[in-house]
Amino acid sequence: MDTAPTNTSPAGPVTAVIVVAAGSGQRLGYGMPKAKVPLGGDTILTHALRGVAAAGIAQQICVAIPPGDTELHALCDAFARDLKAEHLRAPAPGGGQPPVVTIIDGGSSRAESVRAALAALLPATEAVLVHDAARALAPEAVFHRVAHALAAGAQAVIPVIPVVDTVKTVEPSTGDGAAIAPEIVTGTAARETLRAVQTPQGFDLATLRRAHEAAAAFDAGQAAAVTDDAMLVELLGVPVHAVRGASQSLKITTPLDLIIAEGLLEGPLGARWVEG
Ligand code: CTP
Ligand code: MG
Repeated sequence: MDTAPTNTSPAGPVTAVIVVAAGSGQRLGYGMPKAKVPLGGDTILTHALRGVAAAGIAQQICVAIPPGDTELHALCDAFARDLKAEHLRAPAPGGGQPPVVTIIDGGSSRAESVRAALAALLPATEAVLVHDAARALAPEAVFHRVAHALAAGAQAVIPVIPVVDTVKTVEPSTGDGAAIAPEIVTGTAARETLRAVQTPQGFDLATLRRAHEAAAAFDAGQAAAVTDDAMLVELLGVPVHAVRGASQSLKITTPLDLIIAEGLLEGPLGARWVEG
């Protein structure tokens, strides 16, 4: 890191970034939590934490890791020490402090990991960004767009990108159709209105807490259908604003995604490439 990462938006609300990194990484198939998987000579979690710190929007970074994972705990501790050392070496102009790093045990689902992190935020926190460690290469510009929307009054804001594929709805084939193909098309979505949703997702803290309190009462089926935080806020009837995301914020989910992420780090454009 060349400069001490500090909160550079004193005009904005007191902000925490939650990094959820407690998943097991089944689809990546490394036999270890995805946060620990090597990427560009470091780990996926290291890249994610560096991105959050470089954005300079947080007074607190709260990381949810798999319970009992001493290696990831040590990695987060080392990251926190590096932030402090960098701050001593090159204090931020204006006296900004480096973010407090809080490490917590995640839960058995992503939503439970977020809920555990929400319980560990500093008392003065007003706004929160929830970010997937798996989106390890999310550029600073996206954090800034989300933070600016919150500072402008949004209760909820998500980064999105246009969908490039045509998207259809299907259902299982029945009768004679089942002998031809497993599924039959029931419709075609209007692509110009579709967006693929990324993280970091930003919220007014009280709103996100209310949304997660409501979700804690979900049955197993409803809970399994929760794939992001914004959908919980939508259920409250709160408007969710959308800002431009970035394709390098891809969620590293499968081995192919890891190859793409490695390519972003090693390729001629480098990791600092930000889509225009
Ligand atoms: N996550 C979490 N706690 C969980 C499950 C997921 O903090 N119990 C986090 C992951 O660490 C990841 C993000 O939520 O950063 C998005 O989840 P996903 O990409 O599905 O990661 P994994 O659950 O680890 O992967 P898989 O579903 O393939 O096992
Ligand atoms: Mg998962």
